[in-house]
Amino acid sequence: MGRRAAFCRCAGAATSDLVGPPVYLHAVSGGVEQCLDPARLRRAVISAADELGVVPSMVLLHNPERTLAELPPRAGAVVLGEACLALREAVRAGWAGGWGIASWSPQPVLAAVRAPDPSEIPAPDVLMVRAGLLVGTKVLDAADALAGRWQLGARQRWGMSPFAGRARDPVWTDVDADALFLARGQNVTRMQAAFRVAYDLPVVSRMAVGASSVTHLRELVDSVGLRSDPDQVARYRALLHGPPRPAGRRVSDKSG
Ligand SMILES: NC(=O)c1ccc[n+]([C@@H]2O[C@H](COP(=O)([O-])OP(=O)(O)OC[C@H]3O[C@@H](n4cnc5c(N)ncnc54)[C@H](OP(=O)(O)O)[C@@H]3O)[C@@H](O)[C@H]2O)c1
Repeated sequence: MGRRAAFCRCAGAATSDLVGPPVYLHAVSGGVEQCLDPARLRRAVISAADELGVVPSMVLLHNPERTLAELPPRAGAVVLGEACLALREAVRAGWAGGWGIASWSPQPVLAAVRAPDPSEIPAPDVLMVRAGLLVGTKVLDAADALAGRWQLGARQRWGMSPFAGRARDPVWTDVDADALFLARGQNVTRMQAAFRVAYDLPVVSRMAVGASSVTHLRELVDSVGLRSDPDQVARYRALLHGPPRPAGRRVSDKSG
């Protein structure tokens, strides 16, 4: 089995819930290039369908933050709005089953969506973000804020890269995610526990995970029906924010 991404759906998923990966959209000119130009994105959707010989069920705009981070939020809102409208039109024209945004660091996307007097930025069908124990609080909060802003339901929130691509890092054996985040009495490996808790950080219903080993994939699929401990996850999210600031204390206060 070659290296590929698989999608695992949480909450009692069975092997039949695995679906092919979505198509990531980069506007292409020669090599792969990050670009939010609406005409080129439309061409990229059409060529994806042509090359696959089938209409993809989902196309995802790949890391639009790379472009948006270079722009003030208001200009970013215009650029993002035009790109999203182009994808929505391509879906309406039948070139894909749905469209979404995949973002490794969604803060610039949130800034564009929050820009004052923003141009129309249609809500995507899916928002896919980095997920798991190695994701910091800024990314988690931005992902939640974006999903809230667009009123995305659980099925529209997807996660990716639950091990940050570093599954051999000692952190996964050093940290006992089972003891920390899962409901008691479940018999799991540490990788299974880390994978399961990734669905809660942030809350997502599907996960894109890389695997070249069927054994690895089976281990992960067997874990998606596990129960996490929501109180522990909430405490962890609160911990990531640091201690609450004392009432009445200003950010600029330097004493103490
Ligand atoms: N938008 C972006 O910038 C971005 C960036 C990165 C990834 N992604 C998306 O996220 C998907 C997954 O990301 P990724 O592959 O980089 O990282 P990942 O899913 O966090 O990690 C993949 C690694 O986990 C290992 N693994 C899986 N199950 C395991 C198990 N049960 N025990 C031990 N190791 C296990 C795999 O090893 P084996 O190969 O040996 O099975 C592989 O090395 C990508 O395909 C892509 O869709 C998006």
